[in-house]
Amino acid sequence: MANLKRDIKQIKEIINNLKKEGKSIGFVPTMGYLHQGHVSLLQCSKKDNDITVLSIFVNPTQFGKGEDFDKYPRDLGRDLEIATKAGVDIVFAPDEAQMYPPDFATYTVQERLTEGLCGKFRPGHFRGVLTVVNKLFNIVKPDRAYFGEKDYQQLIVIKQMVKDLNMDVDIVGCPIVREEDGLAMSSRNKYLSEEERQSALSLSKALFLAKQMFESGETNPEKIKQKMKELILQHPHVKEVQYIEIVHPQTLEPKDKVEKGDRVLLAVYVGDTRLIDNIEL
Ligand code: PAF
Repeated sequence: MANLKRDIKQIKEIINNLKKEGKSIGFVPTMGYLHQGHVSLLQCSKKDNDITVLSIFVNPTQFGKGEDFDKYPRDLGRDLEIATKAGVDIVFAPDEAQMYPPDFATYTVQERLTEGLCGKFRPGHFRGVLTVVNKLFNIVKPDRAYFGEKDYQQLIVIKQMVKDLNMDVDIVGCPIVREEDGLAMSSRNKYLSEEERQSALSLSKALFLAKQMFESGETNPEKIKQKMKELILQHPHVKEVQYIEIVHPQTLEPKDKVEKGDRVLLAVYVGDTRLIDNIEL
């Protein structure tokens, strides 16, 4: 059974002792409701490190007003089983009062990379993500931390924080894990009805179409984005295409002419569920 710790002081002590023994620490921060995408991060961590720590914390500061903080799926028992099977050494699942005591006042804010894409539609989201990841890094002191490319902007923003703040942790990005039919794995897929799930396939279908168009010689981003949008809007349960962008993979700046290595990202509401996905060209 993975060793469950809920107390910050206690886990810091355990980590400090492991470090004294010279053990390397791999860290997979999550909000729980684990799926195969998380398991793939855990596998990467296990391969590279002596000890793998998984955190489970539904972080209130990264949810905006009216977003799904209250209904975000939570099932610690199920997560512990998956973590144990995946060979996790330590599960850190703090409660909110420990992470954000009443006198909490310090946040981590990043400019530029957080302004577009999801940052534009979820004001304060990356401030919450960076604050909690910064705190978790200070608690777990990992040598390496693993993030999925599904949240591509998050991955780039976290890499920039680590660089800007001279943090001693290697950020490792891991490929998106998809269901057999193409749907990117996400804890939020649980919200989808069977019919909505069919419409949710429009995200990956549109991304594969973009890749196919680029590989057939199309370099005009507007033409690619238009075709993607048309494809998505053919699906009955799509409520809104929030954005489709083709950006430089590091600067996240929109491209005038598409090149190999650029990233296509999108956010789409299927029913009331906001889904994101992306692909490398
Ligand atoms: O990607 C997530 O699940 C979250 O944004 C993270 C990185 C665990 C921070 O709460």
